[in-house]
Amino acid sequence: MNKRGFIFDLDGVIVDTAKYHFLAWKKLANDVGIDFTETQNEQLKGVSRVKSLEKILNWGNITVSEEKFHQLMDQKNQDYLSYIDTMTANEILVDVPRILQHLKQENQGVALGSASKNARAILKKVALYETFDAIVDGTNVSKAKPDPEVFLIAAKELNIAPEQCVVFEDSIAGIQAANSANMISIGIGEEDVLSEANFVFKDFSEISTDFINKLINK
Ligand code: BG6
Ligand code: MG
Repeated sequence: MNKRGFIFDLDGVIVDTAKYHFLAWKKLANDVGIDFTETQNEQLKGVSRVKSLEKILNWGNITVSEEKFHQLMDQKNQDYLSYIDTMTANEILVDVPRILQHLKQENQGVALGSASKNARAILKKVALYETFDAIVDGTNVSKAKPDPEVFLIAAKELNIAPEQCVVFEDSIAGIQAANSANMISIGIGEEDVLSEANFVFKDFSEISTDFINKLINK
């Protein structure tokens, strides 16, 4: 049987944390006097903490000292951590365990490819830390998505060629990163937002084991 690498983004793909990032950024933006819309939020998905704050300040035409910049990033992360503090396995998104279990059963490579520096803590909270053969997160990369670095490192750690890898992503930046890495990109979310993906599903309940098996044997 063919062995492929299946690389999962974390926030908004495995767990329902995209909403907490949104709430924390919205609060920060409003605190510094900037409106923050859902459309702007789409542009932050998958993007690192530093780049996200740069974008928000840019939208508001605001310049801050380096010290203030770090203070704002800390503040956002503290707010975000207060949301995820009480998180349990209940916040694993629909049918993610079914797909992970199937991939394990088929002896496929399974990796995490996330921009978040909180990824390992979240995986432990929802009891999925042991599931992944490789974990690459915001602490392991120097270039943020849409740069393909995070997925290329994940492929390397799995010891599987990038062209043999499949990426599940909910963000535009992440789909672009997967495409640049020459991987099969699967968008989880809205088709009009994730139009650059090779395939788009609303959530994992729409992904059949038959579809996964076809990818494996392609
Ligand atoms: C991504 C999220 O997974 O991680 C972004 O989609 C977030 O919204 C980024 O900014 C960085 O996460 P963190 O937890 O290190 O601030
Ligand atoms: Mg995401």
